[in-house]
Amino acid sequence: MAKIGYYSRKPLPLEMHKVCVVQKTEIIPVEERVKAIRKAGFNTYRMESKDIYLDMLTDSGVNAMTNEQLGAMMLGDDCYAGSKTYYRLADKIKEIFNKDYFLPIHQGRACEYMLALAYVKPNPGSIVPMNFQFGTSVGKIKYCGGDYVICLKEEGFNKQSTDPFKGDFDLEKLEGVLKANEGKIAFVRIESGTNLIGGQPISLDNMLAVSELCKKYGVYSVLDASLLQDNLHFIKTRENKYKALSIREIVRKLSDAMDIIYFSARKLGFGRGGAIILNDEKQYEYIKTFVASFEGFPTFGGMSVKEMEAIRVGLDDTMDEDIISQGPQFIEYLANELEAAGIPVVTPPGGLGCHIDAMKFIPQIKHGHYPAGSLASAIYIASGARGMERGAIDEPWDSETEDEPYGSMELVRLAVPRRVYTVSQINYLVDRLCWLRDNKDLIGGLHFETKGPHQFYDALTADSDWPEKLAAKFREDFGDSL
Ligand SMILES: Cc1ncc(COP(=O)(O)O)c(C=O)c1O
Repeated sequence: MAKIGYYSRKPLPLEMHKVCVVQKTEIIPVEERVKAIRKAGFNTYRMESKDIYLDMLTDSGVNAMTNEQLGAMMLGDDCYAGSKTYYRLADKIKEIFNKDYFLPIHQGRACEYMLALAYVKPNPGSIVPMNFQFGTSVGKIKYCGGDYVICLKEEGFNKQSTDPFKGDFDLEKLEGVLKANEGKIAFVRIESGTNLIGGQPISLDNMLAVSELCKKYGVYSVLDASLLQDNLHFIKTRENKYKALSIREIVRKLSDAMDIIYFSARKLGFGRGGAIILNDEKQYEYIKTFVASFEGFPTFGGMSVKEMEAIRVGLDDTMDEDIISQGPQFIEYLANELEAAGIPVVTPPGGLGCHIDAMKFIPQIKHGHYPAGSLASAIYIASGARGMERGAIDEPWDSETEDEPYGSMELVRLAVPRRVYTVSQINYLVDRLCWLRDNKDLIGGLHFETKGPHQFYDALTADSDWPEKLAAKFREDFGDSL
């Protein structure tokens, strides 16, 4: 990996690409930003892209493509069955993962649906142990009548930590779950890296140990490799034991240990799609029946051939250390700058984005008034950047429960789409967050107009006119700056 030292200044992450296509963006005035977030019901999912300067909602399907990916899209062989594109992508997958069978599927959550349809059964409900839950994964497991058990090691729940692999399984807990539920385990889901605890990686050692336990108890190991490219960077840079291995060698070792791998190619492969890959022909034929019924003919599985060609090239990029280090380096830079400015972030910095701890940033906003939602709205007002609420608004609410479930975390995720934003844009964001830190007492809470279960994309209302007051202070401090 390119490690670049500096002579006259402290190191900055250095882009290992040159920009060949750009998209114009705009910053609307702060007063307009207040109107836009009000119109969106203080929920950043409901915002219109035209009102956003830095779109840091997600890293999914929004990563910049290379000129080679864009060129490859023109090779797409649009053909219902047996297209050349399918075989080219199948060859690339075999080359990288060394697995014989590949099912194209239109995105990650659809892969999860296919696997749940195949293996999760009701009465008695199947159990899926996992290092941590992800909404789309557990949704399908529950829909099919099963349930999940989180087996994350204790340190993973610690928001401020120096542990390099907070996504690791607690192996003892996992073994206990496997023992207690013999005959009921659908599969063990290994999320690499772990999205909802801040893009935290899982070590190769831990994944290999999980695969051994799966073998011991005769259950499938299923790797969710959606965030694998960041995780590979962390294995290479944080796990001494495997430093000498190339990225391709690490992938091979991991892949050889897993029964089934699936991924969202909206992240892995810098495209928009997904895949399930495996070695067992019988299981491949079985899962294929669901793909054919729900996704599309199994040589395209609901994906456009253009995207499949882009993913083929993007998977090669995923094996390039310079390329996969870009995201984590930008996130580390952003997190370190914020931490140095006294802004509470999840540490160590992980992949996919920088996460701000809302309960610490604005302690005056209590549960029931949505600290992370309030902070995400305030960040948008201060900067034009759209982050994602990762707290009570996002938390699934069982319709049988009367009391609102409050998760253990109230975070604002500032995702860093790969190769999209520059260091100067990150520096702009840090500046606006420092201003917000100094004006945090002006931030107020939010509420839903109606009581009872809500969805993560529902609208909220501000508890007072705090957004207008925050904007007025911004105008006072920044004069005619946007
Ligand atoms: C770890 C993980 N698994 C699965 C998914 C679902 O993928 P998709 O958005 O392509 O449906 C995501 C998406 O964010 C993810 O981060």
